[in-house]
Amino acid sequence: MTKRPYIVGNWKMNGNRAMLAEARAIDRAAQRYPDVEIALAPPAPLIGTVREAVTGIGVGGQDCHTAAKGAHTGDVSAAMLADIGADFVILGHSERRRDHGENDVLVRAKAEAALAAGLSVIICVGETLDERDSGKAEAVVSAQIDGSVPLGEGAAVAAGRVAVAYEPVWAIGTGRVAAVEDVVAMHAAAGARLVAAFGEDAVRVRILYGGSVNGENAIGLLGAPGVGGALVGGASLTADAFLPIVAAASQVSA
Ligand code: PGA
Repeated sequence: MTKRPYIVGNWKMNGNRAMLAEARAIDRAAQRYPDVEIALAPPAPLIGTVREAVTGIGVGGQDCHTAAKGAHTGDVSAAMLADIGADFVILGHSERRRDHGENDVLVRAKAEAALAAGLSVIICVGETLDERDSGKAEAVVSAQIDGSVPLGEGAAVAAGRVAVAYEPVWAIGTGRVAAVEDVVAMHAAAGARLVAAFGEDAVRVRILYGGSVNGENAIGLLGAPGVGGALVGGASLTADAFLPIVAAASQVSA
């Protein structure tokens, strides 16, 4: 089965209601790219309004709690995301691992909760610069996949509801993009772990690259073997910056 490239904009802690205009512009343009699956993950207060403003793109969250409800001040559950119309949730982003001490065990539990609530998941992995410089990048990312991807969720994997984003920490928001050959090697390593876990259904797991993706470097990254799409931060905040990445995805999938 061929998979449409998946281009996801992660707005992080950016945006306000004025940015709905960008979401609408991205949504309108999406009609020109039926061969690309496009989604936005706005900050939690905007998910419902973005959902209501768009029709042709996916909308998701950037985190969820492991529990469906309860005494967890400030947290948002997967059921709540589903209730306001979210399709998916990004989990285990390196900024959450860093800022909130999230580890693989927690990320896996969140992924299980999200899948149980009917959401798809994008599970983020990636090495730090120290880990890369000391030759540990593949081992670190392989261990993160083994630890954070929900191994018991073969049915969700087979249904294409699980994606992985390889995001080298040193490439996020730095303008320093990973070399295409390194991305290919890391995606191959990640794919091997997924095959070990899920057998032939592992082909249904899209592996996205993230880290300083923009309209200029997107073609080279998205055209590389094993790259199923992109998780885009800074360049997803305006339609002008985001749409060239979508166009590149369409071009490489043609
Ligand atoms: P960036 O962020 O595109 O701004 O580097 C990517 C991400 O963290 O998902």
